[in-house]
Amino acid sequence: MRVRKMTIKDHSQVLSLWRNSEGIGTGDGDSKKDINSYLKRNPGLSFVAVADKKIIGAVLCGHDGRRGYLHHLAVAPAHRGMHLGTSLVKACLSGLQALGIPKCNIFVYKTNTNGLEFWKKAGWNTRIDLLVMQKKPGS
Ligand SMILES: CC(C)(COP(=O)(O)OP(=O)(O)OC[C@H]1O[C@@H](n2cnc3c(N)ncnc32)[C@H](O)[C@@H]1OP(=O)(O)O)[C@@H](O)C(=O)NCCC(=O)NCCS
Repeated sequence: MRVRKMTIKDHSQVLSLWRNSEGIGTGDGDSKKDINSYLKRNPGLSFVAVADKKIIGAVLCGHDGRRGYLHHLAVAPAHRGMHLGTSLVKACLSGLQALGIPKCNIFVYKTNTNGLEFWKKAGWNTRIDLLVMQKKPGS
C-alpha cells in the first residue's frame, strides 16, 4: 500500500471511488476535463493510495495563492481505519506548507457525521461563523 501523487490517468478509478463513497458529492466539476485542469493548476498536491495496482484512496488539494482547499477525501470501506485517510491529508498539508500556504479549508456536508468525526479527531476547527454561498458567473 502506498500513497503517490494523483495523475489524470487515475481519473476513472478515482471517480468510481468517489461515486461509491458516502458523504462525497460528485458533479460536473469531476469530469476528466475539469480534474485535468485542476491537477495542472495545482501540480503535485493531490494524492491517491494504491494497493495491488488498485486505487483505494484519493484526495484533491489545491490553493488560490493564500488559502489551501482539500476536496473529496475518500478511502475504500475495506481499507478504512488504517490511517490511510490521515496519510493522504498529511501529504496534502505538507505540499501546502512547502508552498507557504498557511491555512487550509474543507467543505463537509452537515449530514456527514462520520466525515466530521474524522476531521475533528485530526484537529480541524469548525467555522460556525461562516456559511458557504455560491453563484454561477453570468447568471
Ligand atoms: C473519512 C475517511 C476518509 C477516513 O479514512 P480512514 O483511512 O478510515 O481514516 P484514518 O484511519 O486515517 O482515521 C484517523 C483517525 O480518525 C478516527 N476516525 C476515522 N473515522 C472516524 C469516525 N467516523 N468516528 C470517529 N473516529 C474516526 C480513526 O479511528 C483514527 O483514530 P486513531 O488515530 O486514534 O487510530 C473515510 O471514512 C471515508 O472515506 N469516508 C467516506 C467519505 C468521506 O466522508 N470523506 C470526507 C469528506 S469531507
